[in-house]
Amino acid sequence: MSTTRKNVSVDARPKRQATVKQIRAMKGGTPIVCLTAYVTPMAVRLDKHCDLLLVGDSVGMVLYGMDSTLGVDLDMMIRHGRAVCKGAEKAMVVIDMPFGSYEESKEQAFRNAARVLSETGAGAVKLEGGVEMAETVEFLTRRGVPVFGHVGLMPQSVNSYGGYGAHGRKVDEWQPILDDAKAIEAAGAFAVVVEGVAEPLGRKVTEELSIPVIGIGASNQCDGQILVTEDMMGLFTINPKFVKRFAEIGDNIETAIESYANEVRSRKFPAEEHTYKMAKSNS
Ligand code: KIV
Repeated sequence: MSTTRKNVSVDARPKRQATVKQIRAMKGGTPIVCLTAYVTPMAVRLDKHCDLLLVGDSVGMVLYGMDSTLGVDLDMMIRHGRAVCKGAEKAMVVIDMPFGSYEESKEQAFRNAARVLSETGAGAVKLEGGVEMAETVEFLTRRGVPVFGHVGLMPQSVNSYGGYGAHGRKVDEWQPILDDAKAIEAAGAFAVVVEGVAEPLGRKVTEELSIPVIGIGASNQCDGQILVTEDMMGLFTINPKFVKRFAEIGDNIETAIESYANEVRSRKFPAEEHTYKMAKSNS
């Protein structure tokens, strides 16, 4: 079955993406493997190994050179979301609602979330916020929009915090974050990201919630982990404490580009095997 909207045709439920039910059932089991993706070829590579791919609004910083996620708009998320859904065979695809696309009212949130799901084929949306967003999360989930929450450090609130420092490093800072996570769960979210919190708080949120808690800069006792793929591959220069670089792809890219430049300048490339011969009959 396919839906057509704004001249774009996408499969309503592409391939065999993991479902909300399957992700929820992973609570407390083998940790849930999540990474970000923004484009089709990367999604194809990640899909084999991940349970969930997030089209994060980090796309603004990673691919577009923005200083924060605040400049990302809905059309960007939809374009990248559609690209990722094309590459995802089995992982659930979740798409971030960008800053300004859901906070004004629950109706605004529904309108934009419906666009995201219907124009991409993703399985869910993610939005930042706790107690103050609970009414919106309930409105969406009751109307068929699966919601992945995001509490703790919320990058869209960077201007209110004044930076990206860790939260909950003093016990008296814990309660608001626990309240946020519980409010989002009670409102019907199927999972929640907890970002940039002290390790014991990450563990406590995981223990106290009955939905999967996915950590980023939280605790290895969370129900799963997520990182920005370009961060963990050494492709992006900002390197927060919680990122382990599993590769140095950036260095490999530079080495390849340097070889290309040298071979072009010395006329070594293109070599004979990279050029076309004349057709025999016309030579
Ligand atoms: O935008 C993003 O990539 C995210 C993850 C880092 C959780 O929200």
